[in-house]
Amino acid sequence: MTMAPDNLDNRLVLNHEYGEQSFPYEEWRWLRANEPVHMTDAENVQPFWAITKHRHITEISSQPDVFSSAAGNIILFRKDQMDVIADESNPFNQMRVIISMDPPDHRTFRKVASGFFTPRGITRLDEIVTDTATLMMDRLAEHGDEPVDFVELVAQRHPLRVLCTILGVPEADEDRLLELTSQLFAFDDPDVGRPGEDRVAASAELGMEFFTMFNTIIEDRRANPRDDLASLLANATLENGEPMGLVETLGYYLIVFNAGHDTTRHSLSGAMAAFLDHPEEFARLKADPSLIKTAVEEIVRWTAPVNYMKRTALRDYQLDDTLIREGEAVAMFYGAANRDEEVFDDPDRFDVGRTPNRHLGFGWAEHYCLGAHLAKASIAALLEQMVERVDSIEPAGDRSVVSASFVHGYKHLPVRVNWSS
Ligand code: HEM
Repeated sequence: MTMAPDNLDNRLVLNHEYGEQSFPYEEWRWLRANEPVHMTDAENVQPFWAITKHRHITEISSQPDVFSSAAGNIILFRKDQMDVIADESNPFNQMRVIISMDPPDHRTFRKVASGFFTPRGITRLDEIVTDTATLMMDRLAEHGDEPVDFVELVAQRHPLRVLCTILGVPEADEDRLLELTSQLFAFDDPDVGRPGEDRVAASAELGMEFFTMFNTIIEDRRANPRDDLASLLANATLENGEPMGLVETLGYYLIVFNAGHDTTRHSLSGAMAAFLDHPEEFARLKADPSLIKTAVEEIVRWTAPVNYMKRTALRDYQLDDTLIREGEAVAMFYGAANRDEEVFDDPDRFDVGRTPNRHLGFGWAEHYCLGAHLAKASIAALLEQMVERVDSIEPAGDRSVVSASFVHGYKHLPVRVNWSS
């Protein structure tokens, strides 16, 4: 067994480590080979088992009765933030979200919106994603071959527009919503929020603003229902015929927006970065756009914007050689599983034609991403525009990533686009 990489435990989870060095691919490689279930004791973070193999993640995710999403947080917070996180007066703690529920509640509430997100339910969304992708590329084209920040101009705007359209958020509120969501996820990032402020403490204030914004829409859609997700959520009834409660309705808005925005944004900017690093793969896609479908899956495998999800063991469980005790936390690192040599040929190669591609970028089983089809349609719509209108892309400055280990990706990605004539 080779020596463990230096600073391994901090590198796996501390936000600033991600801000400085992005994903810990080397550490994950070592862990998969030497200690795939690793007790991690990082600075100021509760101890947890780091899970880095594909088969262990599917085993854990398939057993929500053993590994609970409801019993502890699904995020690894800092120890000194736990009081604020647990504070009952924090509006986030009053909203109930499906991602933090276990069966049977989870199934009851997931059903409310699952029909909307199926490939069938989503056909009317094809128009929304195509129109939005076209608009984004029109805006990008206005800059010609000047250097632009792809994150600012396209990656964060595309999912914002799509989600605001389905959730009924007025265009005038889009910018504020963008600010709120980036503050929520990147609470350790020095460039986000007010200088010097305690970002977790500020989350109560953020929660109140989300609450007010979404509540106004709910009231409107109750009075004037339309054919959109906002109306479906505002007027939803459960299997027992009871209307869905306000805390769950608000929770749905929050989770659809927050789970959908930064994730899609990071997958789009990560795709662009992958094309900058592997221009031959962009040329291949241009030459054969029928590869867009496999390219989308490869982008999600490659970028894995949801870096991990946490579960809490409800009883002792033997995972291969390791006994996980009741009450202990596990963090499933999807990006590590997506490079698992046991599952993927040449896992560190970005290959737009990769088949099969059993990546875990959208999770697995009970909590499998509700918005996976929408996310894939959004990425595909942008790729369609790109292969048609863009000749090639070049780097145009230094890239940077967000200081966040939960949902991770580019903060700035300067590029220069050469347009097809
Ligand atoms: C590339 C983009 C995306 C990625 C990588 C991603 C990833 C994930 C992952 C890994 C999970 C599993 C969580 C768990 O097991 O605990 C998840 C759940 C979820 N995602 Fe996504 N997601 C993306 C886009 C979206 C979009 C666009 C939406 C909204 C429309 C969305 C809504 C949700 C919801 C509501 C859940 C919770 C499902 C449940 O608990 O049953 N996601 N996502």
